[in-house]
Amino acid sequence: MTRPAPASLLTIFGATGDLAQRMLLPSLYSLQAENLLPPGLRILGSARSDLDREAFANLVADAINERIPAIERDETALRGLLERLDYTAASVDDAASMQALAARVSDLRNGDVLYHLSTAPRFYVPACHALGAHGAADARTRVMLEKPIGKDLASAAAINDGVAEVFDEDRVYRVDHYLGKEGVQNLIALRFGNALFEPLWNARHIEQVQITAGETVGVEGRGDYYDDSGAMRDMLQNHLLQLLCLVAMEPPARFEPTAVRNEKIKVLRSLRAIGHGQVVTESVAGQYTAGAIDGVAVPGYVQELGRDSGTETFVALRAHVDNWRWSGVPFYLRTGKRLPSRCTEIYIQFRKVPYSIFGGHAAADMRSNGLLIRLQPEERIELDLMAKTPGLDRSGLRLSQVALDLDFHEEFANQRRRISYERLYLDAIEGNGTLFVRRDETETAWHWVDAILDGWRTAGVAPKPYPAGTWGPGAAVSLIERHGHGWRE
Ligand code: BG6
Repeated sequence: MTRPAPASLLTIFGATGDLAQRMLLPSLYSLQAENLLPPGLRILGSARSDLDREAFANLVADAINERIPAIERDETALRGLLERLDYTAASVDDAASMQALAARVSDLRNGDVLYHLSTAPRFYVPACHALGAHGAADARTRVMLEKPIGKDLASAAAINDGVAEVFDEDRVYRVDHYLGKEGVQNLIALRFGNALFEPLWNARHIEQVQITAGETVGVEGRGDYYDDSGAMRDMLQNHLLQLLCLVAMEPPARFEPTAVRNEKIKVLRSLRAIGHGQVVTESVAGQYTAGAIDGVAVPGYVQELGRDSGTETFVALRAHVDNWRWSGVPFYLRTGKRLPSRCTEIYIQFRKVPYSIFGGHAAADMRSNGLLIRLQPEERIELDLMAKTPGLDRSGLRLSQVALDLDFHEEFANQRRRISYERLYLDAIEGNGTLFVRRDETETAWHWVDAILDGWRTAGVAPKPYPAGTWGPGAAVSLIERHGHGWRE
């Protein structure tokens, strides 16, 4: 597939919103500062607020001044970004304003256009239809959509169908911001840039895989959205399953959109269904109650929400990828709010040595090798190895587990921490969809998750309470210990 031309215009819907202020505008600033934006690129902001160009530019400057540390700020770069800006107020349900927006797009574009719908998902289809109806969507336009795409397979398919009436699939860029994280791309680099791991990357040598995304925050004023969603839809259906795909997929022929996404979809299709007959043993839902994080008391979920709720803020699962490479290897996934620490990591535990030549204490000292890939808060890779404990012991040799530890912030000390939208914008502007999610991926993930959610309903599974500041309900520990494993903490 040939790559489209770089965008000549980026149009952001929801340009005054929270995501824009926190992530999108600062990312565009960074791309500008690093000279990574195409020279003629114009940026058209749009939202309901009736702003003029100058008021929008002020808002952008404020967002950048607030988010980018003073030491990294550069006036020339800021001016360069502001010069690219324009603004048109529009509301998707107001045809006249959408027509005016389409006219502005037509004035500003000088080739390809990237639309970014940073709005509530219910506006995706009407926005695409309005762009189509007003002649602002053609073979040289593409659209970037935020998650969540639906809340189950049926609603996701309805959004995808509606968008597809205007934009062909290869022009739809579905964001999973985890794919824009440096650490996630590093996982791809680690797997496919080293000959070392591939021969071991299979059921013969790997005992279990764990993927954890822990957050210390609660629902942060997003209660209404979150309560309708829960940890399964908010984190597991997308971010955790994407990580699982990258860990489990076969080597793609090339690092390009079709090849990578073809491999990811095979993993999703190989996930063993967890239906109502299995949910009780293979999954755990939890909801935090009042507790403490870092010694600070925090309220429980229902207090934060202000009403009773049966929504899960924690989920743990034992998944299986039923194919030759992974047959029999459990993939333990867990994510939750108000856990003791913010960390996203993948842990691969290798099998034990086939036979121990050591007796006595050394035999008891033996541990399996493990590879830890931590994505956040810091990016590091740790390889747990067995080594001889230094010194002498009357009972003979002793062994200890030691870690080969690669800390990326130390290794690449002059690199600042990036926002994932820097990568995602750069790629979408350049027309590279490799790190975006294809329709079949999102729908296959929903299909799998729907079965679990249905299973919970049928089996009457209610979230088990866990105090804020703990690693979820005790059942999440039993889930893994039943199989002779333990969470890496
Ligand atoms: C979002 C979820 O997709 O990811 C949030 O909607 C969650 O609930 C966030 O807090 C986590 O992202 P990150 O980058 O902080 O790990």
